[in-house]
Amino acid sequence: MAQTQISVDSNPPQDPPCCLDSPPRDLTAESHADRAWAYWKKMGRPRFLVAPMVDNSELPYRLLCRKYGAEAAYTPMLHSRIFTETEKYRKEEFTTCEEDRPLFVQFCAHDPDVLLEAARKVEPYCDYVDINLGCPQRIARRGYYGAFLMDNLPLVKSLVEKLALNLQVPVSCKIRLFPDLEDTLKYARMLEEAGCSLLAVHGRTRDEKDGKKFRADWKAIKAVKDAVKIPVLANGNVRHMDDVKDCLEETGVEGVLSAETLLENPAVFAGFRTAEWVSESEGANIDGKLDQADLVVEYLKLCEKYPVPWRMIRSHVHKLLGDWFRIQPHLREELNKQSILTFEFLYDMVDRLRATGTRIPLYLKDTQSELTAPSCTD
Ligand SMILES: Cc1cc2nc3c(=O)[nH]c(=O)nc-3n(C[C@H](O)[C@H](O)[C@H](O)COP(=O)(O)O)c2cc1C
Repeated sequence: MAQTQISVDSNPPQDPPCCLDSPPRDLTAESHADRAWAYWKKMGRPRFLVAPMVDNSELPYRLLCRKYGAEAAYTPMLHSRIFTETEKYRKEEFTTCEEDRPLFVQFCAHDPDVLLEAARKVEPYCDYVDINLGCPQRIARRGYYGAFLMDNLPLVKSLVEKLALNLQVPVSCKIRLFPDLEDTLKYARMLEEAGCSLLAVHGRTRDEKDGKKFRADWKAIKAVKDAVKIPVLANGNVRHMDDVKDCLEETGVEGVLSAETLLENPAVFAGFRTAEWVSESEGANIDGKLDQADLVVEYLKLCEKYPVPWRMIRSHVHKLLGDWFRIQPHLREELNKQSILTFEFLYDMVDRLRATGTRIPLYLKDTQSELTAPSCTD
């Protein structure tokens, strides 16, 4: 693994290794889709992707997920205006390294010029600049971005066009569904016409915020896939590799994005599943000889090499060790009491968990489907 961490202010821009031969100025439908596909193929057609997650899909976690089968990843959403204005924000919130490819860098925005200025800073280090058109949170309503731009489609069009006409790398969009399928399909076609080269569809509407309460609508995702010519990715309802396989089959999309599941189980794309999903699955499951505590240690080592804000580390440790903390709640309390964290404290905490003699293994199906990555790459 290369030792250098890249951030936009400390490294001079180079030519993007996987950029289009020339900017995608010709936006006629056929040639645009052809170019989008050629690019996607050049990228190796990744099927298993780490979804964008604020404070959670940062460099060390992306690298951990990639080691265990993820074939591409999104950065957390970056705020385009703050990114253009504040060096500290750029340094802390966007880091990458050579192995961190293919990479989608996601921005939220409502001003095409500001978005372009932010995108230009990252384009040498990524494969797609992505626009967040799906965030349904109150903060997005206040900041006027994400899914709230669904009320202003001319603005969305101008954001996509601005990037498509001016960047070397292609633009992708992550969207939610409209309550009415026809509106969603019109929306998807509009994005494609505006120059979007890849569409990730989260199969829930803006009001369906709770992923546990509302199932993602794979039928609607399939309808989007059939309505456009550019590559499409699906997002929602992925708990283990059987879901990935079903989603790819039912929707016909090129790949799937996972968020929540990866937070508990960054090895999901290598075929590992948590105990919760073992009884439900067909066939026998075997101890995968991999434990969430092992993954925490691997993650912490990556964080030592590629530093990130402690709040991100704290968040991952809580999610990865959730099952352990249910058995050892006093250790969770101790972690919560640490206003300042250190690696020493965290490694020691994992040692104490292990010293209890308990194991919380991740499981593998003994007959792995052909979709499962056969082994982890280091
Ligand atoms: C902690 C967290 C942070 C998220 N941050 C973002 C984000 O920055 N940009 C985005 O488009 N979606 C974000 N999402 C939404 C996910 O990318 C994804 O669309 C959603 O969780 C549904 O996928 P899932 O069912 O696999 O969790 C976030 C989700 C979580 C759980």
